[in-house]
Amino acid sequence: MLSKEQNELVTSSGAGTPGGQLLRRYWQPVALVEELSDARPLLPVRLMGEDLLLFRDESGAYGLTNRHCPHRGADLKYGRLEDGGLRCPFHGWLFDVNGACLQQPAEPRDSNFHTKVHLKSYPCREINGVVFAYMGPGEAPAMPAFDCFVAPGSHTFAFKGFVDCNWLQLLEVGIDPSHASFLHRFFDDQDPAENYGRQFQFQTEETGIPITKVLRDFDCPEIEFEETEYGLRIFTLRRLNDAEMHVRVTNMFYPNAAVIPMSNDMMLTQWHVPISDTQSWWYAIFTSFEGEVDKELMRRDRLALYTVPDYKPRKNKANNYGFDADEQRQRTYTGMGEDINVHDQWAVESLGPIQDRTQEHLGTADKAIIANRRMLIKAIDDAAAGIDPIMTVSKTNAADFMGPVAIDTVASVENWRDEWLGHAAKRRAGSSWAPGVKLKTGADGE
Ligand code: FES
Ligand SMILES: [Fe+2]
Repeated sequence: MLSKEQNELVTSSGAGTPGGQLLRRYWQPVALVEELSDARPLLPVRLMGEDLLLFRDESGAYGLTNRHCPHRGADLKYGRLEDGGLRCPFHGWLFDVNGACLQQPAEPRDSNFHTKVHLKSYPCREINGVVFAYMGPGEAPAMPAFDCFVAPGSHTFAFKGFVDCNWLQLLEVGIDPSHASFLHRFFDDQDPAENYGRQFQFQTEETGIPITKVLRDFDCPEIEFEETEYGLRIFTLRRLNDAEMHVRVTNMFYPNAAVIPMSNDMMLTQWHVPISDTQSWWYAIFTSFEGEVDKELMRRDRLALYTVPDYKPRKNKANNYGFDADEQRQRTYTGMGEDINVHDQWAVESLGPIQDRTQEHLGTADKAIIANRRMLIKAIDDAAAGIDPIMTVSKTNAADFMGPVAIDTVASVENWRDEWLGHAAKRRAGSSWAPGVKLKTGADGE
C-alpha cells in the first residue's frame, strides 16, 4: 500500500513532475520504424504528456521536436520535409533534426535572427525497429549493451500496443509472477511447434514439460528477487518433485522495462511508456538467440490482435475483452480467449486509469512489486536531488549492462542457485551473436 502522495509520485510522468523527471533520464521508445512511411516520414507523437513530432530527414537522421513552430505557432504536423529538414508551410522557416533554424525566407538576406531561434528538439536513435529518444537534461546517456540492442536486426522483431491506463500498472503485472498460474491458465497444452512466436507456448528444454502445464499444476510458486545494477532479477520457483526445481528468471530494468523468456529460443524486452498519466504504450523487441526471426509471421499474428495505425487491441474494454461466460466455464480461465496480451490488458485496465494504491492489500507473493516501489521512490528522489539514479549508463560502464539473462529451466532443488546461470550460458553458447552471460550477480557483485 502507498500513501496518496507516494502514489502520485510514482505514477506521474509530466515534464515538471519528479516521476516524469526520472523517466526522462533514460532513452525511451518513441515509435516503431514501420510507423514512418518512406514517402513522408513524419509522425505526431504524444509522450509523457508532451505533444511532439518525429521526423526523418533526407539523410536518414531522426528528429523529435516540439509540435508547434517557434515563429507564430503553426502546427508542424503539416510541415514539408525538404532541403535537409522540416519546413513550416506558414512562412517557410526551415529546421533541421536538431531544431536549428536553417532558413527564414521572408527575413532580410543579412539577418542573423535565425541563429537566435530554436525548435525544441530531443536526440533520437534507431535500434532494431524502434526509434528511441532522450528527453532529459544534459548529454544523452549511452545505450546499455543489452541483448535486444546488440542482436542483429535479422534476429529481432518489434511491435507495440495501446493500453488505457497508467504505465506503472503494466510494469507491475510484469513483476508479479504468481498471476501467470491463474490469469494465463490454459486448460489444454498446445503443441509449441504450431505456435511460433507466441508467449507461453513452449516447453522446458530439460523435461519437455510445456510451460502452460508447469504454471497450471504448480500455482503457489516461491518468489525470490535480488537487486541488481539495472533493477531487479526475479526468480519464480516451482518445486516439481523432490529433486527438481522449475526456475523462471525474469528481470526489470530501470525505470520502465522488463526482460522475460518467451519461447525456447526467444526472449522479450518490453518497455511501458506513458502517453499521458492515464494512457500508455507497450513497446516490445522480440529477440531470437538461434535462427532469424520470421518477421512476417510474427507481424501477421499481431495484426490479428491489433489494428494499425493506432495499435489498439481488437479485444478491449468497449467489447468486454471478448468475454464469454460459456468459454470461461468450459475452456479458458478468463473467458477472454487464449491470447495472454488480452488477459493482461483486462487485468491492468480493470485497476482504473491510475490504480488507487492506498486501497490495496499486498501479500507475500507481491514482494517484487513492493521492492520495486521502494527502489522507484529512491530513484525519483535521487534524480530530484541531482544524484545519478540507478542504471545511469555512460560510455565507460555501458558494456557492464549485458543480458539481462531470462530463462525458464529445470535445476536441482539443492543447487538451483548455481545451476540456472550455467543452463543459460549453455543455451547462449549456441547463438551466433549472443555474448556470454555475465557471472556477476546481485548488488554485491559475487
Ligand atoms: S508560423 Fe511557422 S514559419 Fe511562421
Ligand atoms: Fe501476464
